[in-house]
Amino acid sequence: MQAMIFDAKRDFCWHIVPEPQCGPGEVLLEIHATALNRADLLQRAGKYPPPPGWPDWPGLEAAGVILQAPAGSRWQKGERACALLGGGGYAERVAVPEELLLPVPQGLSLTEAAALPEVFATSYLNLVLEADLQAGETVLIQAGASGLGLAAIQTAKALGATVMTTVGSAAKAEAVRQIGADIIINRHTDDLGAAMDTHPVNVVLDCVGGPALGENFSRLARGGRWVLIATLGGEQSQVSLRSVLSRGLRLIGSTLRSRSNTVKGQVLAALEQKIWPLLEDKSIRPVIHRVLPIQEVHEAHRILADNENIGKVVLTLKDS
Ligand SMILES: NC(=O)c1ccc[n+]([C@@H]2O[C@H](COP(=O)([O-])OP(=O)(O)OC[C@H]3O[C@@H](n4cnc5c(N)ncnc54)[C@H](OP(=O)(O)O)[C@@H]3O)[C@@H](O)[C@H]2O)c1
Repeated sequence: MQAMIFDAKRDFCWHIVPEPQCGPGEVLLEIHATALNRADLLQRAGKYPPPPGWPDWPGLEAAGVILQAPAGSRWQKGERACALLGGGGYAERVAVPEELLLPVPQGLSLTEAAALPEVFATSYLNLVLEADLQAGETVLIQAGASGLGLAAIQTAKALGATVMTTVGSAAKAEAVRQIGADIIINRHTDDLGAAMDTHPVNVVLDCVGGPALGENFSRLARGGRWVLIATLGGEQSQVSLRSVLSRGLRLIGSTLRSRSNTVKGQVLAALEQKIWPLLEDKSIRPVIHRVLPIQEVHEAHRILADNENIGKVVLTLKDS
């Protein structure tokens, strides 16, 4: 089969690679579409290798048609499915542990389904399982117009939370307003700290980190939970430990990709039960910025690198 591998200069190259071999409990998926994630840019830069057992080429999610399933599995040959991957989505086929597959929500295309697993699993893992976000609480979601941000805003609204979010432009502000955000901060022109002082925040989903984390951590409401999922703004920060102690604050680091298949499977099972019905009744929707054939992977990566996208960028491998 062919895959979008890295050449010696870490540039993309559509090249023949060995066919994936299914181990016990694995399903062979013919990939019709895969979606980009910020982590793909890091992987291309050589900074985020795939976990053991996954292909070397990027792609944290995909949707397609099942070519082969183990005996006794819930999955059948010919069914449509989407998958959360540790890597390997930028290819014609991938072998996936069966617990990392989800059905395509009714009414959605494979192109749309490819944009679901990573962002909704990350949102659910961090807002529900890590931060225990409750109805009536306020959550701050950094980078609200990102692929992840738009999924997280919708998940938080479905949980009954008030959403404060940051964006980098007026167009992105309008997009997050339309998806349901309540308080919108332009990160270039508005004062996030002042907004947190005015509207006490219980939970933060933070992909920025850096100095801003330390500046704003002690502004959390008593018992606040700050979930750090990336460090776009830097890896160093200075936190007031007095406020951590006196206000019972928690700083939680969290990556989805490093979790065991068992934990990922539990997150996906919860998504299927709680979020998939909302996708099917259209109260939640995938937000797709652009769909490109996989041969245009350079342009797809440029869009993310330039912070242009509002929502997900999807790469197609077959018409679907
Ligand atoms: N830990 C995990 O398990 C996990 C899983 C998935 C995603 N993530 C992280 O979540 C973030 C969003 O992922 P994605 O794939 O949805 O990304 P994306 O679509 O590429 O969006 C990233 C957005 O972040 C904002 N941004 C970029 N640099 C920034 C900076 N220095 N300070 C503040 N904001 C900045 C930009 O939006 P504006 O121009 O609107 O500010 C940019 O469009 C990424 O950092 C990713 O690594 C973590």
